[in-house]
Amino acid sequence: MRIDIVTIFPEYFGVLDVSLLGRAREDGILDVQVHDLRAFTHDRHRTVDDKPYGGGAGMVMKPEPWGEALDAILDLDATAGEVDARLPPRDAPLVIFPSPAGEVFTQAMARELSTAGHLVFGCGRYEGIDQRVFEYAGSRASVRLVSLGDYVLNGGEVAVMAMIEAIGRLIPGVIGNPESLVEESHEDGLLEYPSYTKPAEWRGYEVPPVLMGGNHGAIATWRRDAQLERTRLVRPDLLPPE
Ligand code: ADE
Repeated sequence: MRIDIVTIFPEYFGVLDVSLLGRAREDGILDVQVHDLRAFTHDRHRTVDDKPYGGGAGMVMKPEPWGEALDAILDLDATAGEVDARLPPRDAPLVIFPSPAGEVFTQAMARELSTAGHLVFGCGRYEGIDQRVFEYAGSRASVRLVSLGDYVLNGGEVAVMAMIEAIGRLIPGVIGNPESLVEESHEDGLLEYPSYTKPAEWRGYEVPPVLMGGNHGAIATWRRDAQLERTRLVRPDLLPPE
């Protein structure tokens, strides 16, 4: 999968070099390119924002640098086959703008996006990006506004990191043992069951005996009950209506 990120803080994404995603990049499973939005400005101060039309607090990101950045990234898709015939034609790109005004990011969305060939993330800052940028991006590619949750961050960078981690680990080959993805929170609509390892007793706390008994049917039942109980207590909104 190819991922392009446009941001005024490229250094945020240094962590993509480490851990599982770093290895996936080394292995060629993930090709991540980070673009500094200021590289697409042409004034001495490399200005990316201005006062909002109509007044109000804060600054709005100017459309021109965004237009140039998106053109540079999306033109590569359009010409991949022409420039170098050895390059496979790229999949239709999907442009994602993290925004508290977007649809909420879920495990189901992460799974859907993990099958994409090319994702472009545009990180807004300040009071947001000039609305025309979304319209222009929509004329060139599929566009989605995606929120991490019902709270406000200072910008899209942290949201994009979270999304890339959630999406990246679902790409075949990124996680060594794919079975570890099966029984996680949210994969079957419930929170995951609690896990234990040795020692059997630690500081007076014991492992539930059923988990050490070797009866796989009983273990599966215990885990399912624990999932339901946890979900009922913490996230009843995830359960189907009775
Ligand atoms: N940018 C600011 N707040 C955000 C949120 N909650 N989700 C995604 N992007 C954001």
